[in-house]
Formats: sequence, C-alpha cells, structure tokens
Amino acid sequence: MDFVGLIDWYERSSRALPWRATHDPYRIWLSEVILQQTRVVQGLEYYGRFVERFPTVVALAQATEDEVLKLWQGLGYYSRARNLHAAARQVEELHRGEFPTTYDDVRALRGVGDYTAAAIVSFAVDAPYAVVDGNVYRVLSRLLDLDTPIDTTIGKKTFAEAANTLLTDYLAVAGNRGSGIYNQAVMELGALVCTPRGARCEECPLADGCLARRNGTVDARPVKRGKTAQKARYFNYLHIIDRSGRTVICRRGGQDIWQGLYEFPLIETPAEVEFETLTIPVPDYLWTGAVRMPRHVLSHRIIHAVFHRLVVPDLSRTALPAGWIVVPAEKLGDYAVARLTELYLERD
Ligand code: ADE
Repeated sequence: MDFVGLIDWYERSSRALPWRATHDPYRIWLSEVILQQTRVVQGLEYYGRFVERFPTVVALAQATEDEVLKLWQGLGYYSRARNLHAAARQVEELHRGEFPTTYDDVRALRGVGDYTAAAIVSFAVDAPYAVVDGNVYRVLSRLLDLDTPIDTTIGKKTFAEAANTLLTDYLAVAGNRGSGIYNQAVMELGALVCTPRGARCEECPLADGCLARRNGTVDARPVKRGKTAQKARYFNYLHIIDRSGRTVICRRGGQDIWQGLYEFPLIETPAEVEFETLTIPVPDYLWTGAVRMPRHVLSHRIIHAVFHRLVVPDLSRTALPAGWIVVPAEKLGDYAVARLTELYLERD
C-alpha cells in the first residue's frame, strides 16, 4: 500500500478540524463521542459548546446530568451523554482528574469502546492502535476487496485484524511513529474520497493498489448482512395545560430509550388506540384535540406518537400521579427533551 501517498494526500487535503489541532485527550474524547452521533458540520457546533462550557474533564464531572443532557439535546441517543458524564466522574475519581492516555485505562471508561479508545490514544499520544470505524470498514473492504459482512462477529474480527496488520506495515516504513496521523488519514480518506456512493477513485492516493477497483466491486463494498427489524411502538402523550399556563412533564427512567429526558405524561399502548380507550389519571379534564406526529424513526424503533391536548382548571390544586412535575409552560425550554417532543413543541 502506498503509505507515503496516503499521508501526503492527508496533509494536502484534510479538513482543519479543532480536535485535530490538540493533543488533549479530553478534547479528543469529547469530539469522538459527539462524532459518533452526528456529522462533522453539526459536530463542530456541539464540540464548541461543550468545550466552552466544560473546558476540562473536571468541569464536566462537576456538572449535573441534566445540564449535560441539555447541552447534548438534538444529538439523540442520550445514553451517550449519560456515559460521557459518568466517564468524566470516573476520570475525576480514578485518575485525579487527569484524563488517562493508556489504551486500557481509556477503554475502561464508560461508553468507550475499542474504536474510541484507539482514536484517543493514537491521536493524543501516538500510541500504536488501529482505529476501525465505519469509514475504515469501507476503505479496507475496498482496498482488500473483502466481502465478509461487517455487521457480524467474524466480520468485525477480520477487519480489526486487517487494520492492525496495515498499521504495523505502516509503522515499519514510517520509523515506528505516526499511528495518529495514519489513523486520521484512513478515516479522512473514507469521509472525503472513498465515500459510500460515488467514490472519487480518480483522486484516491491508494487507487493503484485497490483490489475492489481492479475487480469492479467498489459499489458492492462493504457487504452488510442486513438490517435488524424495527419494532413499532405507540406513544400517547398527554399535553395537559391549566388556565394559568402550567403544564406537566415527567422524567424518563428505566432501561429504555431517552432515559433521563423529560416528556409529557405518556401512556404506551401495544397498538394505535382511540383516546376514549385511555385511562387518564386526572379528574375534570377537557379534551381539546390531538396532534398525530409523522412516524418517528430511531435506530431500532419506529415511534407512532399522538399528543392529546387536555385542559384542566388548576394543576396546582389537582392530585397528580407520582413523578409528574408541574412547570410553567415558558420553563419547558429548560428541560432536555427528545427530538420527538421538540418537533411537537415546534409545531405547537
Ligand atoms: N469522525 C469520527 N472521528 C473523526 C475525526 N477525528 N475527524 C473527523 N471525522 C471523524
């Protein structure tokens, strides 16, 4: 493989991104967690906000979970934000607030998998660990024309081995350093040139040695075994308001989506139901209509949500179920809510 061409290409063509201009493992970790969840353009905004509000891992550890979730709002997959916060607390407690830089210490942090650990230690201290993310799967599957499905145990093992073999080869020609830049270069190649569709092979520094290009299989790589089935869920939300403009929200708990986020009181049903069949746990309400949301697609779920609007005389004098929190409508924006609720509020 033309490693020299690859690194030359990276130095000429890569994007100048703030997390590439630092060796601070805390900032690199932040960027990687955010970028697992969104694309670079949006990631830049969130990264900027997180670094500004939490310049150090200790600052993040000392925040409340609610504040971290609020800053994360809009990125989705909120367990990542909870893990981010928990990991910052681990660093504070186990490493006296110094973000670790050995693979094993980093890998032991909450929410940090093989990819993130390799990215952090290679970018921060140039430790020799190969990163394998979606971009790398694509680049390697084409370069080596591998048809092992990437979403299988055997596929993950095959690609991890291929990535390590290539990194070892690279280190041998590069004088045993440069793991960080090599990893960045392969990922950047996947992001800018070796793209899912419409790969720009004519610009690729590795085109001459690319087996998929030789075999005409570029568009067929990588191979995936198939999608997991998406389960449908039916959410009936109660948007209750009283005559003083107060409303009610609840904090989601349990082992379920959106843990820790706020939402209107929810009645989940096994199928779509009419309002009349729901048992509403407040007296004296007046139903004033419903908003049916478009199908809301998450990674393994499709949510069919209906927001029912109910008016009651005075929430401060109404006996409410445990966990219901009465808030003035104008304070709703202070609470982290899932994108679905945000979409509903935007159209309200
Ligand atoms: N996606 C994941 N990690 C990235 C990084 N460090 N730079 C650009 N895109 C990325």
